[in-house]
Amino acid sequence: MKRIFITGSSSGLGAGLARHYAEPGATIGLCARRAELLTELAEQLRARGAKPIVLPADVASREAMQRAHDAFIAEAGGAELVIANAGVGIPSALLEGDARSVEQLMQINVIGVTNTIIPFLPGMVAAGRGTVVAVSSMAGHRALPGRAAYSASKAAVITFMDGLRMDLQGSGVHAMTLCPGFVRTPMTDVLTHPMPFLVELDDAVAIMARSIERRDRTFSFPWQMAALKQVMTRAPEWLLRRLAPAGRKVGTI
Ligand SMILES: NC(=O)c1ccc[n+]([C@@H]2O[C@H](COP(=O)([O-])OP(=O)(O)OC[C@H]3O[C@@H](n4cnc5c(N)ncnc54)[C@H](OP(=O)(O)O)[C@@H]3O)[C@@H](O)[C@H]2O)c1
Repeated sequence: MKRIFITGSSSGLGAGLARHYAEPGATIGLCARRAELLTELAEQLRARGAKPIVLPADVASREAMQRAHDAFIAEAGGAELVIANAGVGIPSALLEGDARSVEQLMQINVIGVTNTIIPFLPGMVAAGRGTVVAVSSMAGHRALPGRAAYSASKAAVITFMDGLRMDLQGSGVHAMTLCPGFVRTPMTDVLTHPMPFLVELDDAVAIMARSIERRDRTFSFPWQMAALKQVMTRAPEWLLRRLAPAGRKVGTI
């Protein structure tokens, strides 16, 4: 895994993964909207002997992501690992009749993943190797109250990657999905509801890197949440409403 492209690397899991892979000989493409944070991170990666490439872009823009891909390939010459990690948990004002927040969320969480991964596929297939990873969520396994759009976006990512993996069969390129439960990042720092089995950032990054190394298909963590998944996917809706009663007001994660 020497040439790695990561979206959402200005913060949280994306920045943690970039630091994890930073070692002498590694080229790491850093992509997010906040260029100043990417530049700061690039300094840290350089200090670890890696070669960072700062590629500020909005994943919602297909043209911008094609340009980010082109710039990365021009400098790195190829990619072994692409991690489509950028995502948001925009509160959705569904009951107020406002569809804009859902459109924005889908554009980042779903189209952002396809905008990231698809430009890399021809080169990776030609090389006959590599892994493309999408970061979904435990919320993608079952809709929760107040999180309809977020859950739907993450479910779409899981299904897209499942299909892509079958399309890539025999090519040497692997497609996989990571489904975190709660991880301590700026995204969860703002949440006020209980976050069972919260995982610290560095632990989550290590778990994700091991899953990527194993070439899992869809990997959910932590194990307590993965075990609970079986219950959650079968639970009746009245129970889910009880477990997440504040959901109607809080639209994230
Ligand atoms: N933390 C959790 O508990 C948890 C649980 C399940 C799933 N996840 C998923 O894990 C991923 C990373 O989340 P995180 O917890 O690390 O959150 P975070 O710290 O808020 O990081 C989100 C990253 O996504 C980037 N991003 C957002 N919109 C973007 C856009 N339009 N274009 C480019 N980059 C964009 C942000 O960068 P800029 O703002 O600079 O663009 C930032 O780097 C997300 O997909 C999230 O849904 C997180």
